[in-house]
Amino acid sequence: MTLHRTALAAAALALALPLAQAQTGKLKVGLMLPYTGTFAALGNAIENGFRLHVAEQGGKLGGREIEIVKVDDESDPAKATDNINKLIKRDSVDVVVGTVHSGVAMAMAKVAKDTGTMLIVPNAGADAITGPMCAPNIFRSSFSNWQPGYAAGEVVAKKGHKNVVTITWKYAAGDESVKGFKEAFEKGGGKVTKELSLPFPNVEFQALLTEIAAAKPDAVYTFFAGGGAVKFVKDYAAAGLKGKIPLYGAGFLTDGTLEAQGADADGLLTTLHYADGLDTPRDKTFRLAYAKTYKLQPDVYAMQGYDAAQMLGIGLAAAKGDITKKAEFGAALRKAKIDSPRGAFTISASHNPVQDLYLRQVVGKENKVIGIASKALPDPGRGCRM
Ligand code: BEZ
Repeated sequence: MTLHRTALAAAALALALPLAQAQTGKLKVGLMLPYTGTFAALGNAIENGFRLHVAEQGGKLGGREIEIVKVDDESDPAKATDNINKLIKRDSVDVVVGTVHSGVAMAMAKVAKDTGTMLIVPNAGADAITGPMCAPNIFRSSFSNWQPGYAAGEVVAKKGHKNVVTITWKYAAGDESVKGFKEAFEKGGGKVTKELSLPFPNVEFQALLTEIAAAKPDAVYTFFAGGGAVKFVKDYAAAGLKGKIPLYGAGFLTDGTLEAQGADADGLLTTLHYADGLDTPRDKTFRLAYAKTYKLQPDVYAMQGYDAAQMLGIGLAAAKGDITKKAEFGAALRKAKIDSPRGAFTISASHNPVQDLYLRQVVGKENKVIGIASKALPDPGRGCRM
């Protein structure tokens, strides 16, 4: 009888061991980001930020040593499902962090939802991710496309502009940024008179700039990012529009791009949840550490990567290192005040940051903060049922 009990106990222990080990061994993080193409610099900055926070925690989050597996998603939605499935099925990652491009991120969110894999989005603003596609295992450390667009709409209406032309890439991020802009701008008494677009990642802007010159609007609102943003700002100036028709944008237009845009970006006004010159102890510490580690200045993407790691750490600590405890992980994030370089933020019921949207102006090589365009702006989370 005693022997029988001992055997049973030993068998139970053997069964329990792999689980116990899974909670204390390495946590495999799949980083799915663009390392090539127009968003390559954005992917690298996110990885740098993520690694910086992990290093500051001694290489561990929630008591688990972090191991990183990477995939280049090329900002290609057609390859997105295969890429995330490789991370989950071939590499057996415990959590996926990605990505930049909204179209790729929506494919990732579908797989994460279907498989129950934890997903933290460190950039892509696709409204659907914290809207109709929201899920207990999907979180965002960045923004929704609606947020900077809506804040810009309020700013441009307050400036007294009445008639605005918009120009962007034709995909979720561009469409939703313009939609957010239009919602606030038209509420403030303005009218979007023309919506121009070109396919992602096309940068042949000339014909559209000629259309803008002919339309003579009071102002232009735009969403471009990365390499495309560099070229757009340069082409806008070269077409003789700078100084004639004020150009406003979601802050991605001038974040991480000023070195390449030079004087053509000078004076541009944009809205974003990060800025230069915030002058808070938290941001200064982050910037110093980032500059020391990478010999580079951080941008919004680096900050979002850093905060993705902070969020993973908060959730994982509450789940005692067991990422499968989704209820504990999620509850901790929904009640957290995240001590971000951007300023403290909270996570909404649909898992998107509730955060200040800054008004910034390009001065030399900086996006200088000149005010808060929208205080603690929550994404409306339209269509989210959790
Ligand atoms: C997006 O596709 O959601 C996106 C890409 C770059 C910057 C901001 C948003």
